[in-house]
Amino acid sequence: MWLDPKDYKDYDKLNPIIKLTKEIILDSNGYPIDIDAISDKLKGFVARYNEVDYEVNWNAITAYQRLDTFNFVAELIDPRFRDLYNEIKKIPSIAQVIINFVGGNTITPWHIDDDSVLEEWKKNNSGLYNENNSVIGCESITPTYQLMCGIWTTEFSGDDICLEFKDYGKKSWRANDIIAFDGTNEHMGWNKTSDVRVAMYFDVDRSAWKI
Ligand SMILES: [Fe+2]
Repeated sequence: MWLDPKDYKDYDKLNPIIKLTKEIILDSNGYPIDIDAISDKLKGFVARYNEVDYEVNWNAITAYQRLDTFNFVAELIDPRFRDLYNEIKKIPSIAQVIINFVGGNTITPWHIDDDSVLEEWKKNNSGLYNENNSVIGCESITPTYQLMCGIWTTEFSGDDICLEFKDYGKKSWRANDIIAFDGTNEHMGWNKTSDVRVAMYFDVDRSAWKI
């Protein structure tokens, strides 16, 4: 089911986090930072789905994981990620925050948001380490719902940028839209524009929802 983002009890506290994220992710022209260049430079320190059996230009920066230390790699990209981490930490119901870049003309195939799959992928890709040089641990041992905030999309018409769930249909979204859902329901998405789109995903404890 689609959830009402306002049913999340800490919804009103998200604004400063989203604002700071935009300051970090968008350059002075209001355009997203070049995540492909960063990913190439940091060689695996930005999670990148380039070794799966489908073609998808998908990059992500882990901004926060509740059960772990700060992702120091994020600080290599921009020192303000430390501020963002500390801002998110003020809200105990947030288990994980990821900033996700999906390139133009990309389809994200059907999947469920499954932490065990993510853990396996991290191990295989040696992608994310904490300052003790150990692989960052499982971010969430409590069931979560997902809250997605559009950070940047190019102008488009129709449903060129969209999220679709097996059980509850599709929803097109743009920058500044906030949508909420249960990521354990199978879903997929697409970006049919020719430009990158940036979204911020919050994994939030189910116990923090008024439903
Ligand atoms: Fe997903």
